[in-house]
Amino acid sequence: MAFKEGFLWGGAVAAHQLEGGYNEGGKGLSVMDVATKGGPHTRRRYTGDILPGESYPNHEAIDFYHRYHGDIELFAEMGFKCFRTSIAWSRIFPEGDELEPNEEGLKFYDDLFDDLIAHGIQPVITLSHFEMPLMLTKRYGGWRNRKCIEFFVRFAKVCFERYKDKVTYWMTFNEINNQTNYKDSWSLLTNSGIIVEEGEDCEKLMYQSVHYELVASALAVQEGKKINPDFKIGCMIAMTPIYPATCKPEDILMAHKAMERRFFFTTVHVRGYYPECIQALWARRGFDLDITDDDLAALAAGTVDYIGFSYYMSFCTEWNPENPHFDYDETRDLIRNKYVKASDWGWQIDPVGLRYSMNWFTDMYHLPLFIVENGLGAYDKVEEDGSIHDDYRIDYFRDHITQMKLAVEEDGVDLIGYTPWGCIDLVSASTGEMDKRYGFIYVDKNNNDEGTLERSKKDSFYWYKKVIATNGEDLA
Ligand code: BG6
Repeated sequence: MAFKEGFLWGGAVAAHQLEGGYNEGGKGLSVMDVATKGGPHTRRRYTGDILPGESYPNHEAIDFYHRYHGDIELFAEMGFKCFRTSIAWSRIFPEGDELEPNEEGLKFYDDLFDDLIAHGIQPVITLSHFEMPLMLTKRYGGWRNRKCIEFFVRFAKVCFERYKDKVTYWMTFNEINNQTNYKDSWSLLTNSGIIVEEGEDCEKLMYQSVHYELVASALAVQEGKKINPDFKIGCMIAMTPIYPATCKPEDILMAHKAMERRFFFTTVHVRGYYPECIQALWARRGFDLDITDDDLAALAAGTVDYIGFSYYMSFCTEWNPENPHFDYDETRDLIRNKYVKASDWGWQIDPVGLRYSMNWFTDMYHLPLFIVENGLGAYDKVEEDGSIHDDYRIDYFRDHITQMKLAVEEDGVDLIGYTPWGCIDLVSASTGEMDKRYGFIYVDKNNNDEGTLERSKKDSFYWYKKVIATNGEDLA
């Protein structure tokens, strides 16, 4: 059998994408509460406040806040061993800079975790998943400000203390490396709560705010271990392997430099220092970042126990002769890979890339891996009798789990678990749509906010249930 006893099969979500209840239980606003609905090829917009005439999909989302009990019963029916969600920071610290937490917010997660555990499902928790308290953005400029280290570590400590007997697996920052694409202001907003100002050097800003986040993560790891030495605290990396377009030496080097740029975050989390390539880049740019000796000591002392990562797609790049330093710019340097297909949203589907990624992480870092997101965003059709035949999703998962098995069986990768993304339909992070569906469980709500919010089982529900029951042996 490929997967070990106790392998963590489950599903993944994030608080702001499914909870709703955005102003209940003493919750403050988060940056995602002021992000509008976009469309299939349109990004959401950040409006700074709740403005009349705008539509904010997270306010209700799928109303998990009130309906989680029924959803957990469905997860249990599929046989989930774990459920990855996040704690909405603004439920615990509504404005982010308070000294005392909001008891009602803490109680909500107590009840949620108790319900999961009663169904034999262990919570797997991300502390910061794209949604810092809005007030931290307004009052402090988000992670551009060193003060956020203190606020985040306080939040982390409160959660570790409160849930120390209920949660073992934690992650600090979701997809921290998405900010490599710093020219896209959306990633600086969601990852770092930063509103870019006119004329600002976004590249320097990104490295500075990421540094504060990495220090905050390392300090949180240290605090967590004091509270419960058995905690497993990981990082969370958006893995999109970047292939060279050809075997031309310059393309190979370009892809290598792109990988360095997109994944150095892992090196800091795992090894506790900045790799040479990033230090050389800062020197070449003349960046004089605020990095203290205490920060470097914190990074070295707060390394992670495992690598959590998402995997949806692979990228491809080629060298351009006008790029003498082989600088990687994600908005400029990615090209289509003709050997793989793409989803309706243009995400390149590449199951072999998952095996490649697992090998790459293992060879680089020699740590256990946890695939905490993987899945296909697709349009689903509800038949007259209510059934949903999502064979395209089953095919996607079958192909990816097959590669995941090969990585474990043939390549010796140490894999903790697998939690497909959006196991229940939820709000898309990038576009705010409901119709970009990932779930095994269908939620009756569309892009126009029409629907009853009723849940129903797709064909993939029964398929995944069988996969879990056979510990991944039966993928037919
Ligand atoms: C990951 C995020 O980037 O991809 C999730 O961690 C997100 O929050 C998921 O939902 C899928 O992206 P999208 O834009 O289709 O929701």
